[in-house]
Amino acid sequence: MKYKSVFDFDLKGKTVFMRTDLNSSVVEGRVVISSRLREHSKTIYALSEEGAKVVVLSHQGRPSEKGFISLKRHSDHIRKFIDKPLKFVKWEDDFEKEIKSLKDGEVIILDNTRFLKDEQTKKTPEEHAKDETIKKLGALGNLFVQDALSVCHRPHATVVGFKKYMPCVVGPVLEKELEALEKLEDGTSNGKLLILGGSKLKDSIKLLKGMLENGRTNKVCIGGLFGELFIKANGINFGAKDSFFTEKGFDELVPKAKELLDKYSDKIILPQDLGMEDNKKRKEIKVEELPSDLNPMDIGTETTETFKKEIRASKVVVFNGPMGVYEKEKFSVGTKKVMEALAFHRCYSIIGGGDTERALTSFGLVPQDFSHVSLAGKALLQYLSGIPLAGLEILETN
Ligand code: 3PG
Repeated sequence: MKYKSVFDFDLKGKTVFMRTDLNSSVVEGRVVISSRLREHSKTIYALSEEGAKVVVLSHQGRPSEKGFISLKRHSDHIRKFIDKPLKFVKWEDDFEKEIKSLKDGEVIILDNTRFLKDEQTKKTPEEHAKDETIKKLGALGNLFVQDALSVCHRPHATVVGFKKYMPCVVGPVLEKELEALEKLEDGTSNGKLLILGGSKLKDSIKLLKGMLENGRTNKVCIGGLFGELFIKANGINFGAKDSFFTEKGFDELVPKAKELLDKYSDKIILPQDLGMEDNKKRKEIKVEELPSDLNPMDIGTETTETFKKEIRASKVVVFNGPMGVYEKEKFSVGTKKVMEALAFHRCYSIIGGGDTERALTSFGLVPQDFSHVSLAGKALLQYLSGIPLAGLEILETN
């Protein structure tokens, strides 16, 4: 591997800051146990076994959005997984004293890093190094371990700020991700398909642009809310759904989608029909039938068949983001059928994104059905698109 691994270091007695991504779905106030929680727990366990004093950093949710909560419940889950002395420490607590009093093998989980005022401020790594909390933590650590690909695209304080203070290296979860992605890069240059959905439109448009401009994908099938953005870019109005786009500030992305459509029309495959919600029932309509008083919730049957055909013709497929509101059974069909087609086709398949993993489990699929299930979503796409990731750029190389 290009980067230095945490296991290249003698960890006994060392204070190790470990950036994880414990960000999980929160359903009715409960933190859903995810692969992220399980996988990062294994790293915490391994570092503790080596005698490190482990200080875990993670965010959860986004300020002002649902799911922006403390990491208390996450730390309870992790304590059960690893069965080691583990303390949850809030930012209001004397965290410096707590870290200084750690014994070898003990673990602290610090609270949600996005509770810190400078965490998400746009700054360079050098500027973030001067943030009050990073300065305090920096003085206490011997090693910084990045274990989560899924945060490496964010130039946030606890992702990039420690370079000035200590060696910054790779943890085993990130190492596994990078190894899987390197295989993909070595592979064939033809027959690469990207299936893109979900609702993180701003990130998705930037990354799709990168993928297309850098020739990293031969074709892209677009569904979910992202697909709807492109339908709008084709000059079609939705009717009832249009006000949603305006309220969310998505209208400003329409010209960007249009630009990509004009430039790469031979590569982009859009939904030709949609599953709409009609009095809690599913009603399929063709895109030409828009505008409508109904809300789109899924790709339609014809679109699903088109996407499946594209999968069958591909050698490498990356799937990121659901095709619709898969949490509701009637509207899970598109995501389920496309994912099944991918699971049962012989190709190098990578699927990514928090939602994507939850979706596959709910369909009775297992991670072994795919070549690699990434814990990252948009960071995975950014890596594949060739746009540098701030969190990887600060890591020590071999
Ligand atoms: C994710 O779930 O993709 C990561 O935790 C990053 O979250 P963010 O998009 O809010 O930065």
